[in-house]
Amino acid sequence: MSQDSYHPPAKKFKPGSPHSNPNWRGAMQPGPRKQPVPIDQQRRGLPIYQARAQLIGQLRQLESAVIIGETGSGKTTQIPQYLYEASIGRQGIIGVTQPRRVAAISLAARVSEERKTELGKLVGYSVRFEDVTSEETKIKFLTDGMLLREAIGDPLMRRYSVVILDEAHERTVHTDVLFGVVKTAQRKRKELGKLPLKVIIMSATMDVDLFSQYFNGAPVLYLEGRQHPIQVFYTKQPQSDYLQAALVTVFQIHQEAPSSHDILVFLTGQEEIEAMTKTCRDIAKHLPDGCPQMTVMPLYASLPHSQQLRVFQNAPKDHRKVIISTNIAETSITITGIKYVVDTGMVKAKKYNPESGLEILAVQRISKAQAWQRTGRAGREDSGICYRLYTEDEFEKLEKMTVPEIQRCNLASVVLQLLVLRVPNILTFDFVSKPSQDSLQSAIEQLDLLGAVEKKEDQLILTPLGKKMAAFPLEPKFSKTILISSKFHCTEEILTIVALLSVDSVLHNPPAKRDEVQAARRKFISSEGDHMTLLNIYRAFKNLGKNKEWCRENFINSRNMMMVLEVRAQLRDICIKMSMPIESSRTDTRNIRQCLAHGMFMNAAELQPDGTYTTVETHQLVSIHPSSFLFHCKPACVIYNELLHTSKCYMRDLCVVDADWLFEAAPEYFRRKLKRTKN
Ligand code: CDP
Ligand code: MG
Repeated sequence: MSQDSYHPPAKKFKPGSPHSNPNWRGAMQPGPRKQPVPIDQQRRGLPIYQARAQLIGQLRQLESAVIIGETGSGKTTQIPQYLYEASIGRQGIIGVTQPRRVAAISLAARVSEERKTELGKLVGYSVRFEDVTSEETKIKFLTDGMLLREAIGDPLMRRYSVVILDEAHERTVHTDVLFGVVKTAQRKRKELGKLPLKVIIMSATMDVDLFSQYFNGAPVLYLEGRQHPIQVFYTKQPQSDYLQAALVTVFQIHQEAPSSHDILVFLTGQEEIEAMTKTCRDIAKHLPDGCPQMTVMPLYASLPHSQQLRVFQNAPKDHRKVIISTNIAETSITITGIKYVVDTGMVKAKKYNPESGLEILAVQRISKAQAWQRTGRAGREDSGICYRLYTEDEFEKLEKMTVPEIQRCNLASVVLQLLVLRVPNILTFDFVSKPSQDSLQSAIEQLDLLGAVEKKEDQLILTPLGKKMAAFPLEPKFSKTILISSKFHCTEEILTIVALLSVDSVLHNPPAKRDEVQAARRKFISSEGDHMTLLNIYRAFKNLGKNKEWCRENFINSRNMMMVLEVRAQLRDICIKMSMPIESSRTDTRNIRQCLAHGMFMNAAELQPDGTYTTVETHQLVSIHPSSFLFHCKPACVIYNELLHTSKCYMRDLCVVDADWLFEAAPEYFRRKLKRTKN
């Protein structure tokens, strides 16, 4: 969206008076920003503080508990400290899981500040690629994925005396698997007469009965919340363009509200957020005198940590902070000063169809629970206002709860992880919400095709290859590709490619500079596709000493590139530990593509006589995504990294391969496919 397409709201709406915006039902009532309060006093001022004694008494007795309390009541920061202060679980570590890395880090920082200790000492955190804990750590914030990986080495979770599964409503695959793993560890420790494991499930919005039943009738503790009142406004008409609607709303607020009132906008993904950030910054430069300054900051999971932390700082005096975020800011993270929430009602999330075997990333509507969670972000510190960019009718039609991720994603990773955890029968594993048998079967089939599992006396077990695959924090298809790369003498290159595909795009594509971008990119483009083009870019980046200036000139996102280096180093370490020979294929790209074809044969598509593409797996009609370097080409056979559904079903990140290589990789599989096509 360009500046031209933005109409200054003053023309559309009359600022100042209540009900001034014809698009909104209701009024705006700004209030003053609060003075900073000393941290101890802040702790005592939290709603949960009133319940402290009672809570400690109950938690001391209980094996498992479900705690529900409004956002901002103090659950996450206070409960671990209350337990610690009351000497509950001092024999081990009090672990608190978070679905997101940035939440784990910022919470650990906050709690160590409250305890007046250095981060990494009493209070620490552990997330992928970063472990800030020590022998002294007693309160540990970690991502659900990290706790799951720890459980692989220690299924009884012996180091922990308490595990708090926080933000349970998010129902990420990892949290869902953890429910089962933690429940099993708790039972086994009891049977073995070991130190009991206390399990606490927490959230602001969740199906409490489901969790209570699952944890053997664990009591539900309700916390009185002191959520400040929040006014909710809906649009009168459905909005066809949520980006435009969000932009108009942000500037309307900006013109009317005092500069100390910050705005949080929920969008769906990195590209959209970066574009909107830029548009807001551009518009803000040309606002009339008397309008406050605007500090616009993006926030999404793949943004480097240091940049994510910027959103927690106060904006300079007379500046309004506008944070444009994915649903990462929906839970856990407290951003000070937020008075207004602008909710587009959209989220980018996975959808999975086990019949077609397709896992698709799609922008879709949020659930009611998510809408309320977003709204709650406006009332953490004071009364607030939430603008929902959808009508009340549309809101009523939303799903009540978010469908657990485990019921809408490809389960190959989950099944692999459960097998490493030595779960005897995957199909009867005690899930909180069972994924369909079809999804589980299809995941087992995929792992079988990858050579990760085998049947022994009717039991599904991991092959030696499968065990190695589980050592990588990656999707099975990627770990397999890395593991077979030594056979193709191209491990260096495959590590680079997998690292590049594991982070958000390193390509920076400012729409206003399309021609310049194209000119700069030309020298890297490989007719063999996106993987090879990315590899060329990485090589140039590395040869030139990882130069930031070079990144800028070539429209490469240097932050994401640095992340690639980190991810790559970690993956390389795992290979070295396995004594894999690490060779480079140098200028030979055939080996690399052959290796990719052997690892990713399930993600292949073929050109049809009519010029369209269909996937080999399910004959789904797919197109080459416009962002691909192969967009204007028609290779006969490709593998793709993922499918994205917008107006059409698109393949993203493609590599040109030979159909023969695919056949070599899994002859049985392709013979079966061929037979099915002929029938
Ligand atoms: O978990 P819950 O939503 O109940 O609240 P919390 O995360 O424990 O946060 C309680 C309060 O601590 C917030 O309202 C903030 O005032 C403060 N906090 C903060 O300033 N910075 C953080 N990173 C986390 C919490
Ligand atoms: Mg919390």
